[in-house]
Amino acid sequence: MTDQSTAESLKKLRREIDRHNHLYHVLDQPEISDAQFDALMNELLALEADHPDLVTPDSPSQRVGAQPASGFQEVRHPVPLLGLGNAFDEDEFMAWLRRAADMLERDDFDLVCELKFDGLAVALTYEDGILVRGATRGNGTSGEDVTLNLRTIRSVPLRVPVKENGIRPPARFEVRGEALFPKSAFERFNEQRREQGLPTYANPRNTAAGSLRQLDPRLTAERPLDIFVYSLGWAEGPAPETPVPDTHWERLSFLADLGFKTNPHNRLVSAPEEATDFHKQWLEAKEDLDYGCDGSVIKINRLDFQQHLGHVGREPRWAVAFKFPATQETTQVEDIRVNVGRTGSLNPYAILEPVNIAGATVKQATLHNEDYIRSKDIRIGDWVVVERAGEVIPQIVTVIESRRTGEERVFEMPDTCPSCGGPAARKGEEAVTLCDNPACPAQLVRLVEHFVSRGAMDIEGMGAKQGQALIERGLLSDVSDLYALKMEDLVAIDRMGEKSSANLLAAIEKSKEQSLSRLLTALGIPHVGSEVAEVIAGRFLKLDALMDAAAEDLEAIDSIGPKIAEAVVEYFANDANREVVRKLRERGVNTEQEAEEDAGPQVLEGLRFVVTGRLASFSRSEIQNRIKALGGAVSGSVSKNTNYLVAGADAGSKLADAQRLEVTVLDEDEFQALIESKQGLVNEVRSP
Ligand code: IVH
Repeated sequence: MTDQSTAESLKKLRREIDRHNHLYHVLDQPEISDAQFDALMNELLALEADHPDLVTPDSPSQRVGAQPASGFQEVRHPVPLLGLGNAFDEDEFMAWLRRAADMLERDDFDLVCELKFDGLAVALTYEDGILVRGATRGNGTSGEDVTLNLRTIRSVPLRVPVKENGIRPPARFEVRGEALFPKSAFERFNEQRREQGLPTYANPRNTAAGSLRQLDPRLTAERPLDIFVYSLGWAEGPAPETPVPDTHWERLSFLADLGFKTNPHNRLVSAPEEATDFHKQWLEAKEDLDYGCDGSVIKINRLDFQQHLGHVGREPRWAVAFKFPATQETTQVEDIRVNVGRTGSLNPYAILEPVNIAGATVKQATLHNEDYIRSKDIRIGDWVVVERAGEVIPQIVTVIESRRTGEERVFEMPDTCPSCGGPAARKGEEAVTLCDNPACPAQLVRLVEHFVSRGAMDIEGMGAKQGQALIERGLLSDVSDLYALKMEDLVAIDRMGEKSSANLLAAIEKSKEQSLSRLLTALGIPHVGSEVAEVIAGRFLKLDALMDAAAEDLEAIDSIGPKIAEAVVEYFANDANREVVRKLRERGVNTEQEAEEDAGPQVLEGLRFVVTGRLASFSRSEIQNRIKALGGAVSGSVSKNTNYLVAGADAGSKLADAQRLEVTVLDEDEFQALIESKQGLVNEVRSP
């Protein structure tokens, strides 16, 4: 091959690789498999190895430089990188908008809504279509030259050629954006470090910052950083055939056309309410993003308006960071304690130095079980990052190992139950430590709480407090004793009047009629939740039959595996449990149910549902079972594959997800109507 034609082949190959790289890392729409991509890359490497003189710095083979830098040069930003003023609530956001409107003497301007990425700001400079410099923001006036490290980020184009559609980059220009460590990649990265016995990192943001400041770009390359570009910093001639657009929105799409990764969630809006809606929507949905996002950024679209508004100090008047309330804070683990769950599980939890997170004081975090504590290596005295997301129990995200002093104490799971003092141990492969004394008082409180709950026997007016009081008075030694309670027992409890005692007795009485599946749920057999209980009850119909069933009988049921089968058999093999059941029956609790009628045509077959919010005529599990009985599938979160969201009152983030993904939302009546219309169709087809 002549050098001429080799050079041609190399050029074509590089273009092809660049194109696939863009499809994969920028657009998230790969056209070829990883293996096919690797094959192209290997072809390039082989050709370049034979022709080292033809290797160019913008070749995709040259992302990771071999030469570690000895330090970072300071670079002055030709145009300073400004910061952003903050708005912490809607009032502050509206105040910002009003000030801008006053200065512009109009209020009919468009706004661009963007996400505020929680990474670090970088500036990329291109000359004649080639990436020549990448720098950190630094203090805004000058930053550090981290070109070699930024080159390792696959979504940073090394070359910005004239596009096929004629779009041409300016001769010299700078784009600005945010470098990030994707959350999923961060978890994998920490997982690997843990396996290698290396200290883990506290959060994706700091790790992204640390990665960009690695002296050896090979280390940066091992960390899959990403970038979102959010503005054109500056651009200069010679006058391009493609003029640089004069609104921010068009500039974003210009940058995307040039091959940069812009955020697909950016929106152009014309009314302030649309901007606040955008903000609220992402407040709910931000956890679904694979990168940190701590607010929205609202920008005035027209560049001439931006110029007119100018900036105060380092903060532009034409943009504002509309922040979400923080959901993570750092605090210290003061102690690790254990409580006892209803199945006798010893549940460790952390006592934290109280810390305010998004308006609520957090004092405790769940630690799940012994393995969880080991895998995160959480010690008493550790500084930790704590997260509170929505209604979820606070969690320890990570330990800040760099703040250890050596004074921290490793927690040992107790080998006796903290409530009854009986032996506690792990069974087989299970992560939980169990107290296997069925008469353990702490267990009984939890079991009573579960027994009376809405999805189980549904006894209103009874809860952990009343249960505890009755247990202390010796009136409850197992759940069957609920059905022997008398008026005088209840009025003796603190804050229980005659009226509420009478109501409670009536609720207890009524619960005797609950279905077998609810009773099974209520017993609190390990691994038997309401869905499993329904399946088992539907098959055995009588509690007696189930009590004498062998593991094989249970495993013969479609959705029942060996773990559940074994748990059920073991539960009924225990004499204490059999005695509870006997007493329940003796005291009038229903232990049977009728066979279900033939499920009928599977009219919802192939359809995927998500159920959310409070429903009026169904419990959540009832409607889910109904869907399944009709052949539909139920999942926990809304995705592109969801066909319908059935939403009750106070539907939260799932509703927002559905709206964003354009998934059809049904209320209960519409859900009924859907089923009826489908059943109608089937009947029509069936009847001659
Ligand atoms: S625009 C003058 N847009 O926020 C405009 N900044 O305090 C300033 N940031 O460190 C930048 N997401 O890195 C802009 N969509 C976004 C952003 C964003 C995150 C960061 C930026 C800077 C800080 C500004």
